Amino acid sequence: MASLHSTVAAVLPAASIATAATNEIGKRGLAYNNNNVYGNATYANDFFANSSQVTWGYDWGYPSWNLSSVFEFVPMLWGLPSGNDPDWTAAVQTAGTVNILGFNEPDLTYSGSSNMLPAAAAQGYLTYMEPFGGSVRIGAPNVLWNNYDSTSSGGDYSSRVWTSYFMGNRTGCHFDFACIHWYEDCEPGNGESGADWFTSNVTDAYNTLQLPIWVTEFQCYGSDDQQATFLESVMPWLDSQDYVERYAYFGVFPGYLLDGDGDALSAAGKAYVSS
Ligand SMILES: *[C@@H]1O[C@H](CO)[C@@H](O)[C@H](O)[C@H]1NC(C)=O
Ligand SMILES: *[C@@H]1O[C@H](CO)[C@@H](O)[C@H](O)[C@H]1NC(C)=O
Ligand SMILES: *[C@@H]1O[C@H](CO)[C@@H](O)[C@H](O)[C@H]1NC(C)=O
Ligand SMILES: *[C@@H]1O[C@H](CO)[C@@H](O)[C@H](O)[C@H]1NC(C)=O
Ligand SMILES: *[C@@H]1O[C@H](CO)[C@@H](O)[C@H](O)[C@H]1NC(C)=O
Repeated sequence: MASLHSTVAAVLPAASIATAATNEIGKRGLAYNNNNVYGNATYANDFFANSSQVTWGYDWGYPSWNLSSVFEFVPMLWGLPSGNDPDWTAAVQTAGTVNILGFNEPDLTYSGSSNMLPAAAAQGYLTYMEPFGGSVRIGAPNVLWNNYDSTSSGGDYSSRVWTSYFMGNRTGCHFDFACIHWYEDCEPGNGESGADWFTSNVTDAYNTLQLPIWVTEFQCYGSDDQQATFLESVMPWLDSQDYVERYAYFGVFPGYLLDGDGDALSAAGKAYVSS
């Protein structure tokens, strides 16, 4: 699939590539990493390579740690590098790379975020992402779209406002798709539905940003069964929205899409591989 895809990417203009990406390889993907007993993509390969529903993966960075070639691997530039990194260039230029992801939660300030001012993030994109624009499709920063608290990097504002400042500073950059994260309780209380919140927040992201949407992390907080029910509710919706190009549930880890021991799919994992 990956090689067919890169052939398509080489001959078609950007708009056609977007259509090809959606129709040919599907939307459902894997957020995995090598931080496990194998030190590689074994969990992703062993539990998901047989699923025709699951077609791509990313690991918050590069390399792919031997992700199976049945998946499209999407490299990510997690944060601002200190200078040109030949390994990033090599990852982007690896045969089969069609799409690239940029900064991970630059809008947030906790220790696991890439915490950047909007203007600095835009400058980082101009330097390290945009130069590849002719050869691969570029995703905008991965922001926590439903963080509507006033807690974003650089000020007393929400992630939506951070994103609007980033877009305001994006001179010289283009984006082929926007990337959002979403975390919320499966049952937010007052009889409300996490699935309804999710679909309304994703719709809002598209209406605001006017770009195809990749939901690169999402999870509802709750029991394994509650998460399976959530997935069974939102995946048909995601699959039927033309503007949703890709999504990846969090994540390919024991206690998440795998059971606690990492030797079988969890209920949520079983939902994720089903049609
Ligand atoms: C992952 O690492 C394990 C342990 O070293 C090894 O046996 C296995 O072949 C590796 N898998 C891949 C896909 O490289
Ligand atoms: C990836 O696969 C190669 C070839 O089988 C192997 O030599 C290497 O150790 C693997 N890397 C990891 C991190 O498992
Ligand atoms: C995937 O398919 C291979 C080959 O048919 C099989 O050996 C393996 O057990 C399957 N894995 C899962 C998790 O079903
Ligand atoms: C997300 O959805 C919830 C429920 O509809 C809503 O209260 C909230 O304002 C939305 N947030 C964003 C950022 O759209
Ligand atoms: C550029 O980003 C800065 C914060 O980094 C913000 O104050 C400013 O309003 C942004 N400019 C535009 C045009 O959005």
